[in-house]
Amino acid sequence: MTRLLITAGPTREKIDPIRFISNYSTGTFGYEIAKEAKKRGCLVTLISGPTALEVPSGVKFIGVESALDMRKAVLREFPESDCVIMAAAVSDWRVRSAAKRKVKRGSARTLTLVENPDIIAQLGKKKRHKILVGFALETEDLIKNAEKKLTGKNLDLVIANRCRPKSSVFGDAKPDITIIDRFDGRSAYFGRTKKELAKIILDKVLSFKI
Ligand code: CTP
Repeated sequence: MTRLLITAGPTREKIDPIRFISNYSTGTFGYEIAKEAKKRGCLVTLISGPTALEVPSGVKFIGVESALDMRKAVLREFPESDCVIMAAAVSDWRVRSAAKRKVKRGSARTLTLVENPDIIAQLGKKKRHKILVGFALETEDLIKNAEKKLTGKNLDLVIANRCRPKSSVFGDAKPDITIIDRFDGRSAYFGRTKKELAKIILDKVLSFKI
């Protein structure tokens, strides 16, 4: 039975106990992949940032908030998985020192951000026989940037997802994607739902020898 570790959703990086920085990810793509993988008989662990989605039944669910929480959970689950699909939109930065108390109005504020660790790149350094799948959401140079992520992070597959300024790729959108594998194979898909794309992605992932 293939053991799939899937991450989904955004991360939240605290500013103070009330506020955070985050991104527009809804988690839909990762959750669709998790549901489809479960249907196919995989053993699924879903590590998710905060979303409004229902937890898919029959999966091991781990809810997290920040990128550091997500990294901790991923590293803990990694040894027990054959394949990792990082669909999460991990925040690239966190606030250097989150305030312990609510920050009061009244003065201009400058947030100092520090870079979060790149979780999938860390996995890429120690993956051995595991399959690693990443996403690349880009506004420009889609294929070039996605290929850079594929090789730079030592991935097997990258799902390149174009974000156009005027149309959203979040939620129920039908994103245009190109799947690029480490043998330089490419296939492009247009106008399909994330549910349909989840099937296509899993066909590819499971065709790798695991
Ligand atoms: N990712 C990760 N850890 C991070 C940031 C991203 O594991 N701190 C993963 C994402 O889950 C995704 C892939 O890396 O599978 C690419 O994420 P993306 O945000 O597109 O790229 P970055 O490497 O963060 O580069 P940039 O934001 O500069 O494009």
